[in-house]
Amino acid sequence: MSDPARITLPFDEGLLPPLAGPALFIRPSGEIPQDLAETDLVCEQGFKPLADRLQDRGFQVLPQATGHFATVLVELTRARRENMANVARACRLAGKDGLVVVSGNKTDGIDSLLKATRKLVEIEGVLSKSHGKVFWLHPAGDVPEFADWEKAVEATHNPSGYLSAPGMFSPDKIDKGSELLTRYFDKSIKGEVADLGAGWGYLSKQLLAACEKITTLDVIEAEHSALEAARVNVTDPRARFHWADATTFEAPGERYHSVITNPPFHQGRAAEPSIGVGFIAAAARLLRPSGQLLMVANRQLPYEPALEAHFRHWDILHQDGAFKIIRARRPKQQR
Ligand SMILES: C[S@@+](CC[C@H](N)C(=O)[O-])C[C@H]1O[C@@H](n2cnc3c(N)ncnc32)[C@H](O)[C@@H]1O
Repeated sequence: MSDPARITLPFDEGLLPPLAGPALFIRPSGEIPQDLAETDLVCEQGFKPLADRLQDRGFQVLPQATGHFATVLVELTRARRENMANVARACRLAGKDGLVVVSGNKTDGIDSLLKATRKLVEIEGVLSKSHGKVFWLHPAGDVPEFADWEKAVEATHNPSGYLSAPGMFSPDKIDKGSELLTRYFDKSIKGEVADLGAGWGYLSKQLLAACEKITTLDVIEAEHSALEAARVNVTDPRARFHWADATTFEAPGERYHSVITNPPFHQGRAAEPSIGVGFIAAAARLLRPSGQLLMVANRQLPYEPALEAHFRHWDILHQDGAFKIIRARRPKQQR
């Protein structure tokens, strides 16, 4: 996560006049600095757990903002092309009179982004803080290359025919683990079902095609743009779409007969099994007492203690050099 105080450093050091609103903050990941919080501020955050956190603190949050803003602030994510597109869009939304401020960690590519931006527009200032940088500029007018930066993250159909975009999970090809999981979609999956962390909808689409006795499938995904792609890819009327954090999601009706998932395994660069553990706990909470969880995981991820803690029975149905397919039955934790 970026140092939240870095983005307001140029204002705090008197290098820029006090922050003018209306202001847009694209992809804030943590605390909002006080001087920003006191401005007429809209936060754009498409990742639901972070959007929820900001909303709980009273901020106005949109998954995608439009309009004109006097100041546009951008915090980098791990996705290089998304970062370029966000800077280009910030310049468009700020216009000629506006100010754009960009902050990011070295590990998220702030140096190369600064270099690429400097080739197109004049950078007015740069400061270094907390293993990263903040830079700022007043967009001078239309820069044709910025249109290309924005276009590079637009959703397009991938070679398998699904709508997806850079920054989403496995956008260009179907994930091998997900493909493997579809081989275990059998007649035992019926009734009310959920797909936790559905991405652009590959598993949901395959599941509905394979299991005709499913009555509803809740397609649950935290990243707004991926869920929008899933809406296009999964056209079966049994699907219901939820922009939601799977770990706090409440089933809209009865608890589920089955839950399927290929859980996320990193938020930063390193694998973080705790995220998948959260998904296993959520599945146990969301399932009926007789319900089942079917999941795929990278072979080395240690999910067994969590399966033991949350389910009465679980089996590894398949294991190879890369993946394991797990079926868990009869959740221990009930509401
Ligand atoms: C490994 S991908 C699997 C995507 C898709 N099911 C597939 O098999 O191709 C995990 C997905 O979970 C999403 N995700 C991450 N954290 C989440 C959360 N807290 N709640 C819901 N979805 C989340 C990610 O955005 C990503 O799309």
